[in-house]
Amino acid sequence: MVVAVPTAVNPTPTFHYDDAGYMVVEGVRVRDIQDALGEEASPFYVYSKAQISANYEAYRAALDGVDAIIGYAIKANNNKAVVKHLAGLGAGAVLVSGAELRLAMEAGMDTSRTVFNGNGKTPAELRAAVRSQCLINVDSEFDAAHIADAARAEGLPANVLIRINPDVDPEVHAYVSTGLANSKFGIRNSHLQWFLDYIRDAGDDVLRLAGVHSHLGSTIKKVSIFKDAADIMLGFVNTIREGGAAPHLRYLNIGGGLGIDYERVGEELPSPADLINTIRPQLLAGGLTVIMEPGRSLVGNAGALVSRVIGVKTNGSTRFIVTDGSMSELIRPALYDAYMYIAATEPGGETGVFDVVGPVCESSDFLGKGRSLPLPAEGSGLAVMDAGAYCHVMASNYNMKRLPTEVLVDGDEWRIVRKGQTYEDLMLGYEGLDV
Ligand code: LLP
Repeated sequence: MVVAVPTAVNPTPTFHYDDAGYMVVEGVRVRDIQDALGEEASPFYVYSKAQISANYEAYRAALDGVDAIIGYAIKANNNKAVVKHLAGLGAGAVLVSGAELRLAMEAGMDTSRTVFNGNGKTPAELRAAVRSQCLINVDSEFDAAHIADAARAEGLPANVLIRINPDVDPEVHAYVSTGLANSKFGIRNSHLQWFLDYIRDAGDDVLRLAGVHSHLGSTIKKVSIFKDAADIMLGFVNTIREGGAAPHLRYLNIGGGLGIDYERVGEELPSPADLINTIRPQLLAGGLTVIMEPGRSLVGNAGALVSRVIGVKTNGSTRFIVTDGSMSELIRPALYDAYMYIAATEPGGETGVFDVVGPVCESSDFLGKGRSLPLPAEGSGLAVMDAGAYCHVMASNYNMKRLPTEVLVDGDEWRIVRKGQTYEDLMLGYEGLDV
């Protein structure tokens, strides 16, 4: 018997193996969940509540002594149970759509600790954001005008943060780099004065400049990058203050973006404490409330996608493990060529090197390539680790695959926190139509 492949380092002790070689999440064997859910609900996502708590606590403890809001970026994982749990721990929210705003409110998020971001917010979304009195970022000239329109229509002032591009290279995949001068997000910095004048001229009952906002990108592995950006942002705060009236200026939003240990090969990655300690002087210097917007580093390592092995085959020199999990349920490897660690959830045969692929009709449909794994029996489980962020939320119905079930483990207990789709769910869009 070969026990499931151990991770070179285990950054998530909430996921471990028992003595018989079965993967356990907190106190629950993954195999038990798989058996209880059955083949119809495969693949599925499993999340550890304790890991989310630990990740949040890492930020909270690191921010001790700093007046700060930890705004959870809901786009990373919008499961309502996850959002509720983070709201209960004291997190605020970071939103990019009207639907996320509705969910945040239903999950009990305090909207005064919530930021509505985006480069293409619609008039309806902006009116809802003004109504809920969350902070709203100003991304462009037209956005400023739309926010002012929404504030006038609602008869309430909009508290806005100007999104500035610090133009610091986050050194990440181009698709998740957001803070460079040519990015589609944020204002042109050379036009800052125009925005300050626009906000002032709109009047206090329409627009109030509550702060500045930046977000460099995602999966950042060097804290020096955040330090450079924080220095630049403080420079902007000083410019704004020197320019005169900014009576409502209160927030310095430094965005999210801290990377997590997807590779699990023992690389030293910065923790929230490393990040915050590096920029502590800047955070304290402005006398401002700091907003952070972590998504991935709060929920990423708290989740896994568990698939079933359908079979093993060899073509040419490549051995393939074919699973029921695919790019439809987890697109990061196909979209960004992202590496995500894959581990067996139960003992298998002799260890070999495999490409792990799904059944979707595309050669980009892979979960991992060249992975060392025990030869799995048909029906056994394989887990893509660190799948708590940007995985379920990016799943699709490609090949008429159905959005997977989500399960939350809490100690020795687990429960379904979102039902997977059924074939009938996919047919709902035809209801009442002559098709
Ligand atoms: N704030 C803003 C303005 C953002 O655009 C983002 C992420 C965050 C906060 C949260 O960043 P985090 O702490 O999670 O890195 N789908 C990609 C990631 C896209 C990130 C988009 N923005 C992926 O799978 O890697």
